[in-house]
Amino acid sequence: MTATTGAPRRLGTAPDPADLDPAERYSADELAAVQLERLQRTLHHAYENVPLYRSKFDAAGVRPADCQRLADLAKFPHTTKQDLRDNYPFGLLAVPMDQVRRLHASSGTTGKPTVVGYTEQDLDAWADVVARSIRAAGGRPGHKVHVSYGYGLFTGGLGAHYGAERLGCTVIPASGGMTARQVQIIQDFRPEIIMVTPSYMLTLIDEFERQGIDPRSTSLEIGIFGAEPWTEQMRQEIEERLDIDAVDIYGLSEVMGPGVANECVETKDGLHIWEDHFYPEVIDPFTEAVLPDGTEGELVFTSLTKQAMPVIRYRTRDLTRLLPGTARPMRRMTKITGRSDDMIILRGVNVYPTQIEELVLRTDGLSPHFQLVLTREGRMDRMTVRVEARTDCPGDRRDPAGAELVRAIKEGVGISTEVTVVDPDTLERSVGKLCRLVDRRESGSAG
Ligand code: DLL
Repeated sequence: MTATTGAPRRLGTAPDPADLDPAERYSADELAAVQLERLQRTLHHAYENVPLYRSKFDAAGVRPADCQRLADLAKFPHTTKQDLRDNYPFGLLAVPMDQVRRLHASSGTTGKPTVVGYTEQDLDAWADVVARSIRAAGGRPGHKVHVSYGYGLFTGGLGAHYGAERLGCTVIPASGGMTARQVQIIQDFRPEIIMVTPSYMLTLIDEFERQGIDPRSTSLEIGIFGAEPWTEQMRQEIEERLDIDAVDIYGLSEVMGPGVANECVETKDGLHIWEDHFYPEVIDPFTEAVLPDGTEGELVFTSLTKQAMPVIRYRTRDLTRLLPGTARPMRRMTKITGRSDDMIILRGVNVYPTQIEELVLRTDGLSPHFQLVLTREGRMDRMTVRVEARTDCPGDRRDPAGAELVRAIKEGVGISTEVTVVDPDTLERSVGKLCRLVDRRESGSAG
């Protein structure tokens, strides 16, 4: 089955305005006033309690009192993941440890993990924004929410969990893994909502099919997917195969966890940033200049309410654009195209895995399971797309499908690649965050 382009968009029902948080209905002026007051408080809190911020502000010649308008934030220095690593584990905490109720950490592929702490009030605010996110996705009190994000130091599982409880839902804390059992639990407990990475959702859909269950027949109505980039084509694929509304949730541990921004099911037009808690900016990643709304660049967040670990102008590395509000007055960010860290530079051309995902899903006969393998021959970098055929793709359709994808990548992205179409169910499946890239350049081996 291939996702059809141009199919009518499936949209869900908006919540009753009376059920929204007051902040979700703020006018632009009301929001700006709340933001400025909270921003000033946060800058003081960070400067007074975190040596890193004090030394950074001093070096830049700025004081918290210099922030008189929201635009003044641009005078303040950025914070990076390296700053968190350099202050591992607790150097950025702004409160004594006896006020910290929970610690999370993000694994990171290199170096030390980054650690984040939460006071009781932080956990409360986090549960509120996740509850708001689930409601934006179409969730209502009384729904059962199956959480397949991993529980543990990763913020996905526990973040989703307490938000769902806060909204008044019944939580099924499945965590990741044991795929066959997850399918059984979904069949038996009949949740309306699932919260999981989009890539693990695909693994679950395949498992339904393997067990002879039509995925469209399940009780699921809404999927809240995030923790990794996914495309509009992936949304169509998942919505069609599961007969659900698929909605995007964004967040990062340094800023809070899931629930920094979420799409509204009635528009599915990008993610509303919960700006009463997280102040967004988009900057040029090279010059660091703040870019006007609508221009693509690197997303930067300043926390507005966090006590245990305030973050000032944290550089996320995520690439997006800020857009005006639609379903809610707060601004939206477009779906993340990728992290600057995920960018592959192939013979001078910048490529993101999401660009390839979009083209794979547009090609008849190819499944969403693919890997990008980078190799080096002499001084030349090569990329091979290893992609699984769909189970219903006839054997003689595979080569033409591969050739079609080579052409589409050449035309759409501007690079020459090789495409190998492999048997269904042969590539490794993800349980948590997906990594599409297999970099074999250092070893110099081919294939
Ligand atoms: O992934 C928090 C989270 C959990 C978000 C569950 C949504 C759902 P980290 O492990 O710190 O936190 O990773 C954060 O993941 O900077 C993005 O690069 C990526 N990311 C998160 N959500 C999305 C999304 C969690 N909806 C990093 N779209 C972020 C694209 C996302 N990328």
